[in-house]
Formats: sequence, structure tokens, C-alpha cells
Amino acid sequence: MEPIAEREEEAYENIEPERRKVYNNKDITQENGRLLHMRLNVAIDGPVSAGKSSVSDAVARRLGILHLDTGAMYRALGLATLRAGIEPGDEAKVVDLCRKLKITVRHEADGQHTMVEGEDVTGMIRTPEVSMAASTVSRYAEVRKEMVRIQQQLAAETDMLVDGRDICTTVLPNATAKIFLTAAQEERARRRFLEMKEKGQEEPFETVLEELKKRDKQDMNRAVEPLRQAPDAELVDSTNLTFEETVETILRIVEAKRHG
Ligand code: DC
Repeated sequence: MEPIAEREEEAYENIEPERRKVYNNKDITQENGRLLHMRLNVAIDGPVSAGKSSVSDAVARRLGILHLDTGAMYRALGLATLRAGIEPGDEAKVVDLCRKLKITVRHEADGQHTMVEGEDVTGMIRTPEVSMAASTVSRYAEVRKEMVRIQQQLAAETDMLVDGRDICTTVLPNATAKIFLTAAQEERARRRFLEMKEKGQEEPFETVLEELKKRDKQDMNRAVEPLRQAPDAELVDSTNLTFEETVETILRIVEAKRHG
């Protein structure tokens, strides 16, 4: 016997789009009193190195849905900017480049692959230079507009967990569950330091902390869509939580919202 979810999905696909009912961005299409499909979108925002990527990966896996790391898209543009010899602070040139470039993501068994003009740049976007360039190019309204458009399109297609800085506020204002994941600045710097060390990118702790403070400041103070906790997002402070505890806390929030 086929799993119910698949049969419901199939039944849903057979309903003409004009007969599908949407309320608050949630699909409430019913047949014989049975809810056929309810899009599951989980939105997670938070500052640098709050553990968003790895926690989001684990939560998405446990929920059996895809994980979209939106930071990787801004990083891809940051990388492309540096490669083109454009100063990330040059808004007009960055916006022009963003309009010309095709930035896409592909989900494979080992996770998200981020592509620029078809080239897989996944392994090149985690350096400190690209991090800073990504933070700078993400300040521009036109860049954000384009990124948000692509992200909303992807999230509308399938059940998905999306993480970033403006997901709860702008990308998925009607998400099933919204979480603001953070941790104390020193703790985030410590995690980033260890993560970089593991990758062979040795930097003194003080440098890592300074870079994190700079990026925090830029992400939280930019004019367009600065990082902030959405009023209806649940705060998860992971300073004193283990990785597994953080994952469990978020899963509990999602389940409560989903069935509550
Ligand atoms: O999450 P991350 O560190 O990979 O993100 C890199 C930069 O991209 C971050 O400094 C701010 C920007 N960003 C953003 O402005 N909006 C998002 N939704 C995701 C990332």
C-alpha cells in the first residue's frame, strides 16, 4: 500500500489550480472533507555563526524536507563580484552583475549545491573574503529583491526549511513556523574559530571575533531589511544548548505550530 502522503500528493496534483484553495499562503484544498495538502515552510533567521546552517540541515532532515541556505546565494554573488574585479562597495556595478548572473541552487544527496552560471561554487564560498563580500553586496535593495524572488519561488514549489536573515520578515512571512536562532557573540566566535580550524583555516580567535562583530554590525544596521527578530518568531538562544538540544527545541516548535 502506498504511503498516505504520496496518495494525497497525487490527488492534489489532479485538482485544477483554480480549484485549489489558499488561505494565509497555506494550501487548504480539501476533498471529501480531507485536507489534501498543506505546504510546510519553516523559516529560520539569525546572526553569523549561530549554527543556522548545520542546525537547519539536521532539522530539515528530521522533517524530511529540503533545506535552502540563502546565505550561500549572497556568498555566490560575493564570490562572483570579487572574481569580476568589482569592489563590493560599488552598488551600481554589483547590481548590474547580479542582474546578468544566473544564481541557482540544486539539492543533491549531500546537500545544497550553489551554482553561478552553471558552475558549482559550493566549495569556494566559505572563505573570510567571500563572507565579507557577501555581507556587503547583501546591503543593496536591488540585489535583495532578486534573491527574495528566487527564494520565494523555490519555497512555493515544495516543502522547505529556509534559513537566512530576512526569511521570517520578508521571504516567508506566512511560514508554518518561524525561529530566530542566536547565541552570545563570544560563543558564536568560538564556534566559528573551531569550524575554521577544522577546515585548516587557522586564524587567531581575536581576528575571528573582530570579523564576526564587523559582519554583525553590517547585517544589523543596513538600511534595507536589516537582521532583526520578527515579532512572531520564537527565540532560540543556543548559547547553553548542545547541537542536539537546539535541533530538538526547534523541532518541538515546528510540531506545535504544525498541529497546534
Ligand atoms: O548566513 P551566511 O553567513 O552564509 O550569509 C552570508 C551573508 O549574506 C551575511 O553576512 C548576510 C547575507 N544574507 C542576507 O543578507 N540575507 C539572507 N537571507 C542570508 C544572508
